[in-house]
Amino acid sequence: MAWAWAMTTPPNRSTLTIARPDDWHVHLRDGAVMAGVLAHTARQFARAIVMPNLSPPISTVAAADAYRARIVAALPAESDFTPLMTCYLTDGIDPGELERGFASGVFTAAKLYPAHATTGSAHGVTDVANIRPALAAMERIGMPLLVHGEVTDPAVDIFDREAVFIEQVLAPLVRDMPGLKVVFEHITTVQAVQFVTDAPANVAATITPQHLHINRNAMFAGGIRPHAYCLPVAKREQHRLALRGAATSGNAKFFLGTDSAPHAVAAKEAACGCAGIFNAAFALESYVTVFDEEGALDRFEAFASLNGPAFYGLPVNSGTITFERRAVQVPAQIEANGTAIVPFHAGETLGWSFRA
Ligand code: NCD
Ligand code: ZN
Repeated sequence: MAWAWAMTTPPNRSTLTIARPDDWHVHLRDGAVMAGVLAHTARQFARAIVMPNLSPPISTVAAADAYRARIVAALPAESDFTPLMTCYLTDGIDPGELERGFASGVFTAAKLYPAHATTGSAHGVTDVANIRPALAAMERIGMPLLVHGEVTDPAVDIFDREAVFIEQVLAPLVRDMPGLKVVFEHITTVQAVQFVTDAPANVAATITPQHLHINRNAMFAGGIRPHAYCLPVAKREQHRLALRGAATSGNAKFFLGTDSAPHAVAAKEAACGCAGIFNAAFALESYVTVFDEEGALDRFEAFASLNGPAFYGLPVNSGTITFERRAVQVPAQIEANGTAIVPFHAGETLGWSFRA
């Protein structure tokens, strides 16, 4: 009924208020860069799942506890941001360590990096069979498994690595361990959207802002564009459109995870540039623009603030943030405590701002 629709979704609405959101996938790094990027995430989000791919990786309760303390110590004085820590799974991971970390509240989840799949994955898992005891423990205690879903076989085309991972690794895993909570991180393909949509409720996915905004052409627009390169790499337009459909659908299985991955300009603009896009400074403005373009502002709160906590079994944050249809200019570079980083949307104007 047209009248009812108009009441709930005012066209061209100028503000949007939602419960405070969380980022269910972020790389904060460590040391000086962490101190430089952290305030951006803390300004935007109440909580974030912090990725453990440091060097050396965070694979023990003690290391995660110490890393958490360094993050909290680096927060702006007035911030109530809560970092949620993860354990980096290795071939030799001790299931007892996972259980102790989860029981004590230090570990919220554990991250599976296939060895050599992406930045900081050299110590990752060489074969999922090697971590079966750990996965069995996680299934039993309800500890979520966060998955970087790409095969690493160099014979597989880089644009097919996610789809092949679903067939070869993820589908069998979900079938064999039906009680395991799984987050398929930073999905990039129509195959991933379909897999997660069809899977039982214990399987969910995060979606980044960049995979909603760009397709693979962005990496080659007039020349090679290292700041549009992340892993999993952006795919064809049909995949971007499927991701936009999933994110804005209201389906509780899809939620916000920025995969903000800061690298110094020189590490990106190189003969072998690092994978990773730094989007933390304008992540919410970026996402809300997509929801506006899709006519789905009324579903932004589910994606940003409700679906993630429901999956993780955590309360929705208290407090709200309000977005306004007010342009914001993204700078060409962001200075992170002595390290220059090119942000996602560098030099662009986004149509939405927010006040906390
Ligand atoms: C991430 C990083 O730099 O740590 N890079 C990326 O391209 N996303 C690692 C990851 O999440 O794959
Ligand atoms: Zn990541």
